[in-house]
Amino acid sequence: MSTDSLSRDAAAIPLWNGAYEPARLNGHANLWGDPPVPYAETAAALFRQNAASVLLDLPCGDGRNLPPLAGGAPILLAGDTSTNAMAIARTVTVKAGVADRVVFVEVDAFATGFLDSSIDGIFCWDLLGHLTNPEDALRELYRVLSPGGSLIANMWTMNDCQVSDPNIREVGPKEYIDHFDFYCRFFDADDLTALLDSVGLRAESVEVASWWEPPHAGYRDYVHQHESLIFRITKPAG
Ligand SMILES: C[S@@+](CC[C@H](N)C(=O)[O-])C[C@H]1O[C@@H](n2cnc3c(N)ncnc32)[C@H](O)[C@@H]1O
Repeated sequence: MSTDSLSRDAAAIPLWNGAYEPARLNGHANLWGDPPVPYAETAAALFRQNAASVLLDLPCGDGRNLPPLAGGAPILLAGDTSTNAMAIARTVTVKAGVADRVVFVEVDAFATGFLDSSIDGIFCWDLLGHLTNPEDALRELYRVLSPGGSLIANMWTMNDCQVSDPNIREVGPKEYIDHFDFYCRFFDADDLTALLDSVGLRAESVEVASWWEPPHAGYRDYVHQHESLIFRITKPAG
């Protein structure tokens, strides 16, 4: 881990918060749109099957995945470093009728402040590919996972729409900086295995999924198709 990577990930935090400011949303209610990513429902079903009590959606962004995830356990923690995002997300939970089950917390994925082994399921969507140091975030997420609990996360592949966005620039092998100055790294299955190996973790499942998303106000103004590797890591029980 270099000092540069540490400072880029830390520097992105206020940039992200700014991206959710009402003036940047051009009159739209949110940045990412209303439809949850399709896998949020699948993840909720897996967490439910596991009889999870406490889930964490980190980062929750402006809340699109909270309504399905709230069906995965009695308590859903919604965490992000952006207070602007969480203010929008709160209105999403009220509208969806799930606000009584969702607790918002300002959380940095590198230092969550949660106790060891305290969370039964973590949904980590569209964060790790933005980090120059996903290793430390993965270590932290695994630390707080309870025995038998699962982390479900994604990494974009090189078939993801972002790679061909006219405003993104290549800065290294499978590494880009987008027009908001956000770092983006893309993974194939071997890259993912190497990353997980480097922190002593192993995915129990990895699948490739692609899906369409509506425009994101002021960020990606066109209908687009994402492709990700979706992986699950379960902490051994007992
Ligand atoms: C691309 S958005 C994804 C949000 C959400 N998961 C979704 O699918 O809509 C990335 C989010 O990561 C948050 N973020 C960036 N760095 C973070 C960190 N170190 N810890 C927690 N959240 C972070 C940003 O504020 C932003 O809301």
